[in-house]
Amino acid sequence: MDILSATTQAQPQYGVILTNPPLPLETPEHSQLEIGFGNGEFTVQYAEAHPKVMLYGVEISQACVLKCARRAAGLGNLRILNTDARYMLREVFRPESLERIFMQFPCPWSSNKQAHRRVTAKDFSDGLASVLRVGGAFEMLTDDEPYSLEVREVLGRHEALELSAYEVNPKRAITTKYERTWLEEGKNIYRVEFTKRAKFAAERRTVQEMHIKINRQVSGQDLEALRNVEGKEGAKTFWKFGRAFSDGESCLLETLTSDDEFMQEFYIMIIPRDGGTLLRLDKTAKAFLTPAVRAALSDSAARLDEGR
Ligand SMILES: C[S@@+](CC[C@H](N)C(=O)[O-])C[C@H]1O[C@@H](n2cnc3c(N)ncnc32)[C@H](O)[C@@H]1O
Repeated sequence: MDILSATTQAQPQYGVILTNPPLPLETPEHSQLEIGFGNGEFTVQYAEAHPKVMLYGVEISQACVLKCARRAAGLGNLRILNTDARYMLREVFRPESLERIFMQFPCPWSSNKQAHRRVTAKDFSDGLASVLRVGGAFEMLTDDEPYSLEVREVLGRHEALELSAYEVNPKRAITTKYERTWLEEGKNIYRVEFTKRAKFAAERRTVQEMHIKINRQVSGQDLEALRNVEGKEGAKTFWKFGRAFSDGESCLLETLTSDDEFMQEFYIMIIPRDGGTLLRLDKTAKAFLTPAVRAALSDSAARLDEGR
């Protein structure tokens, strides 16, 4: 099923999914966030138990988004986004806009090679500290004690965060699927909570709109020459062009980008305009205008301008 084309009227259970909204979001006063909600069972029960809260859920798996959206049919105070919270947290939410963030049983990414993907990675902890309001809290639950200790130690060094709780097997009114599984297996559950004590804001990296005009008309041959062309900027920003599809006038160019492993696939639209050519993202592309997307757009325009 295609969640991107589902409309609120036709399929009310999908009303809670935000597809490519203008960013950063306009959030109401009592806004909270759950990162990686899995099957959405906790999420929906929590939203029902806290009607004054607007709960946002960010989940990377489309299958989980669909499961949660089905459970949430008719619920007015839940909004779901299908994206990578690690990269998009500070792009989706304004600084100081959330009163609580929870992350329950995330994969700890234990190998050193994946250390940059952990909660403790500087980029992610800066994002957390930025979007929380002063006095707001970040809560993480895990069955992995070394990971809980690492989070406690590393986030404890963040200039704006202070440890406010560390508990083993906390009593909780609502539990998650993973939590019940681990408890049934006799494992311990660790809860780490940090409160934001000082103002802190991290810079956003996406922009809302971008198009480029070149003064040259583009041919099918020009587009064929772009196929499989790759580009990079620094160590974290990559892009690659694929096939081009034409309706005889405009063209769609397949593009893949990566910003620090946040991957996006979309089309660049190439349209004849006033004797030249306009390049912009296809409106249905659902891509966020990250540095890699902007670099891909600029690179394709520069190459087509020079007829490379
Ligand atoms: C182990 S499951 C836990 C699910 C749920 N919180 C629970 O306790 O039952 C981890 C969840 O985090 C999601 N996830 C992993 N990385 C993510 C990311 N970068 N952004 C958003 N969600 C992510 C996964 O898709 C998965 O649903």
